Amino acid sequence: LKKVSLFDNLNDEQLEHVLRISQKKTFPAGTVLFHEKEMGLTFYVILSGSIKLFTRSANGDEKVLSLANTGESFGELSLLDGRPRSASAQTLEKSTVLELASEQFMNLLQAHFDITRGILTELCRRLRATNEHVNDLTFLDGRTRVLKNLIALANRNGRREGNLISIPMALNYDELAQMAGVNKTVLSEVTRELESRGVLHFELGEYRLNLDKLRS
Ligand code: CMP
Repeated sequence: LKKVSLFDNLNDEQLEHVLRISQKKTFPAGTVLFHEKEMGLTFYVILSGSIKLFTRSANGDEKVLSLANTGESFGELSLLDGRPRSASAQTLEKSTVLELASEQFMNLLQAHFDITRGILTELCRRLRATNEHVNDLTFLDGRTRVLKNLIALANRNGRREGNLISIPMALNYDELAQMAGVNKTVLSEVTRELESRGVLHFELGEYRLNLDKLRS
């Protein structure tokens, strides 16, 4: 629980209380925790692993809205506004989460202003990220969006070794394209160009970005 920034200001006794009122569950990769449009009953905190939050269009195309990693949380919107889930949630790898029932979540918000402020700060961060994504879709071309997205994933999930950043490849090709808001043809054109310049290298389970070559 110490990795969860929402709970930063809770003392050990309060953390134990959170553990008592929540349920710890582990799910294999690919498990759908809930579907878009369902009623929301629980708030989730990720203790380890990563979760993809996504929506589907009327003809079934997927759009990845966000990835949530260890220490982050999701599922608060429908508990706060009483409306259906705004997105579906699926594990990208084996993941352990804490589930808090709606009533327990509300009690925590009422008892600890730090947690309420943490949720508000997270909602602000997401609104800013969404604004930025809308700007990118409006003003940047597809190639730049792919590059920006690869760099953002590297900053969030990458491991740095000198000039190389290794990024675990939790997302497949389709999902990478959706995050950047391009189709698969654009993504493969850009990745082929980057691979030929030695900027990007795909390997089983991860990809590597060469920062020196990216800058040149
Ligand atoms: P809820 O609507 O209950 O269920 C889906 C969850 O996905 C939602 O709560 C948020 O926690 C999360 N979510 C929805 N939209 C975004 C977004 N644009 N960025 C990050 N997380 C999101």
